[in-house]
Amino acid sequence: MSKQFESKKESLSIINKAYSDKSDLSSKDDKIKSLENKYEVLSKRTKDLEKVYQFHKGIIQSISSGLITIDSNGSITFINTAALGLLDYEYQELVGTPIRNLFDDEREADKVLDELLNKKRMFESREINLIGRTKKLIPIGFTTTLLSSDDPVYDGVIISFRDLTNLHHYRIQIERIDRLATLGEVSAGIAHEIRNPLAGIKTSAQVLEESFSPGDHRSQLVGRIVKEIDRSNELLKKFFHFAKPGKPKQEFVSLDTLIEGVYLLLSSKMRKKGIIFEKNIDTAIPDLYVDENQIEQVLINLFLNSLDAMEKGGSITVNLKMVENQDEIVLENSSKAVVLELEDTGCGIESDNLERVFNPFFTTKSNGVGLGLSISSRLIEENGGRIVVESERNQGTRFTIYFPTS
Ligand SMILES: Nc1ncnc2c1ncn2[C@@H]1O[C@H](COP(=O)(O)OP(=O)(O)OP(=O)(O)O)[C@@H](O)[C@H]1O
Ligand SMILES: [Mg+2]
Repeated sequence: MSKQFESKKESLSIINKAYSDKSDLSSKDDKIKSLENKYEVLSKRTKDLEKVYQFHKGIIQSISSGLITIDSNGSITFINTAALGLLDYEYQELVGTPIRNLFDDEREADKVLDELLNKKRMFESREINLIGRTKKLIPIGFTTTLLSSDDPVYDGVIISFRDLTNLHHYRIQIERIDRLATLGEVSAGIAHEIRNPLAGIKTSAQVLEESFSPGDHRSQLVGRIVKEIDRSNELLKKFFHFAKPGKPKQEFVSLDTLIEGVYLLLSSKMRKKGIIFEKNIDTAIPDLYVDENQIEQVLINLFLNSLDAMEKGGSITVNLKMVENQDEIVLENSSKAVVLELEDTGCGIESDNLERVFNPFFTTKSNGVGLGLSISSRLIEENGGRIVVESERNQGTRFTIYFPTS
């Protein structure tokens, strides 16, 4: 009886164990299932997050504004493609380096960084010069935003900026035009007022000259008066022309023919100085719709300046080409521009003077009036173009004129 009981107890415990094992198994299955579910949710969220990350990265990388973030020590933590393109650097070259190195003026940089990082004072549309790999100055307008997050490691400042190079050029151009307009009015008035009495003086002097017998030394003196009056008149004519250049009489003109004409006019002067002339034409250049006489005058002024800049020997090179006027950067209302470059190997222009050469009466020559370039820039503007200058001391000078093609 007891044996029977024992064996029954044993079988019961075996059955119980089997049951408990089974329930154990089923709970493990559930756990795996729930883990699998959690994994799926998590990996979906990771993918979603990755998409959001890529989306935001895409926005930041494709905006045309430059974007730089710095940490609380002023080190660069991120820099977008537009900023890298503008500064001509690779991402790895700049991340982790002090942003201070990108500013042109160190004192200004320290002031700005002190305001941003220590005083937490942000800027709105402030202007400053950056300096890229090629050491070229890049004027920018920037705005800053405080970057604060849960993790202080990411705290710092976001700097967004735009390249103001073109704006800078336009400003200079507008100032130039303003100055020219004012000066034009003033000189027109003065020239007019002086010309009349001069004409009277000249006539009187001529009458006086005739009253002396030939060989009278006083007749020589009066002759000198007449000569000086003629010289003054020439100067006044220049002023007058400057003040009232007249509306351009536009027609279709071949730039190439115009250059040849100017070269022929000045070729003997060039030969005397041993200056070589070279002309390169890139592609077929369409005729320009301009005032032939005005553009010819501009070319003569530029050639004469180049001749003045070269004592003995050297070369004048004219290059003609076409460029895409992307985003109408150089000219308004024209998708393409004809470019005329006139380069010489002369004495060059001091960098301090470079922005002043288009100013009326700016001259470094003892016999110069300083009107050649200001008249030229005005005539180019009147014909819808734009003129810029680049130069290096003792290397040479290049004037570039952009003409609209339409
Ligand atoms: N190709 C050049 N190379 C070097 N310096 C130049 C050149 N072109 C212009 N300059 C500088 O710019 C100044 C202004 O030129 P601009 O033609 O307006 O006047 P200018 O030649 O002095 O007198 P003018 O009224 O007789 O032309 C010059 O005096 C000279 O210093
Ligand atoms: Mg000149």
